[in-house]
Amino acid sequence: MSAPSIFDRVLDFANRADPYPLYRQLREQPVRREADGTFVVSTYREVQALLHDPRFSNDRRKLASEYAGKIPPDEASGGSFIRTDPPEHDRLRRIVTRQFGPPHRPTRIADLEPDLERIVTALIDGFADRHQVDIVADLAYPFPVAVICDLLGVPAEDEPRFREWVDPIVDSISQLTPDRVAKRDSATRDLGAYLNGLAEQRRRNPGPDMLSGLVTDDGPEGRLDDQQLISGLMLLLVAGHETTVNLIANGTLTLLRHPQWLERLRQDPESSIRVVEELLRYEPSVQFLPDRTCVADIEIAGMTVPKGAPLTLMLAAANRDPAHVRDPDVFDPDRDDNEHLGFGSATHYCFGAPLARLEAQIALTQIAQRLADLRLVEDPPPYRPSPVLRGPIHLPVTYDKVK
Ligand code: HEM
Repeated sequence: MSAPSIFDRVLDFANRADPYPLYRQLREQPVRREADGTFVVSTYREVQALLHDPRFSNDRRKLASEYAGKIPPDEASGGSFIRTDPPEHDRLRRIVTRQFGPPHRPTRIADLEPDLERIVTALIDGFADRHQVDIVADLAYPFPVAVICDLLGVPAEDEPRFREWVDPIVDSISQLTPDRVAKRDSATRDLGAYLNGLAEQRRRNPGPDMLSGLVTDDGPEGRLDDQQLISGLMLLLVAGHETTVNLIANGTLTLLRHPQWLERLRQDPESSIRVVEELLRYEPSVQFLPDRTCVADIEIAGMTVPKGAPLTLMLAAANRDPAHVRDPDVFDPDRDDNEHLGFGSATHYCFGAPLARLEAQIALTQIAQRLADLRLVEDPPPYRPSPVLRGPIHLPVTYDKVK
């Protein structure tokens, strides 16, 4: 057996707490071919160029036939729009976006601010008679989940049920073993059946939520079919569950490791905008985009990536590319050259970016301002299994009192 490659070591859970030295090694060769035929791209210029290249594809059905095993069953006849290419992608994205703001929903994301503040205030009020909490379980998880459930129209009390389905779906994103595939497929079926039932209810009895809009509103581009609806809802639920949770948890950890920024946030809540932007570069919740491909041969950094080969784009490595950003390993929210790939770029640029930014700004500001003498219990904390949606599974902290 050959020695593990650098990318194999990124996947290895032993390196989850600090993959950045491995990303530095990856960047020494911008494009690498793995033993299984996957091309791993890790420098900013090359990742950005691919994301803007019309030959680049998110659609796993366009992988060469020897990689067909990578296609989950629900994608065989077309997945959610994150796994669909233009022009179909653009149509599906527009239909969903139409339900995400005016004129169909009563609010713009910025108008949600008082509601978001209220949810975080109530969660932190609940810390008052304790001196130790788990930032993940007690704040970073329940907050975005409550928000996405409310926007979509999924009853928050059902959350413990669908958490059991979301976890195996996330675990399978980058590392497929027969056991993970079986768990993913069964979880996808159960979550699909649950969402189907909910969609049926909303068709009969619509409310002011996105799901009701999606099943009743015939916009200029029609409606999603049943399969597109279910995979679109799953995408929003998974995105709303996992990514923002990690941004808040990675953010709290980074601030505790850089106490001058915790103090700055305490004094100046406006600095939360810069703090969150720098976190999206420095500790992005989505570390890489696996299982992409290309619909024609592409020349990149002196290598030919053949049509249909699996491509993995290392967003977190590109964000720290010294050819792109000064002192990339320094956490510096004051930097003025912060163009990062934390939300991707181009066609699939994150749909939830305005919401995710606002949620993280509010949560981190309240953590800084309300928890006096905040300290980490263990550094590094324990991590979630996924190397893609990377973040602590628990983040125990202590504090003196709640203000
Ligand atoms: C796409 C990151 C929060 C919905 C993406 C992509 C990234 C990303 C990197 C690009 C994927 C690609 O190019 O294939 C994040 C991060 C978040 C976050 C770091 C939080 C910190 C959210 C939230 C929602 C959301 C809260 C939903 C409300 C989506 C959707 C797409 C997407 C629907 C697919 C867009 C498309 O294919 O056109 N996100 N996301 N995300 N995100 Fe997010």
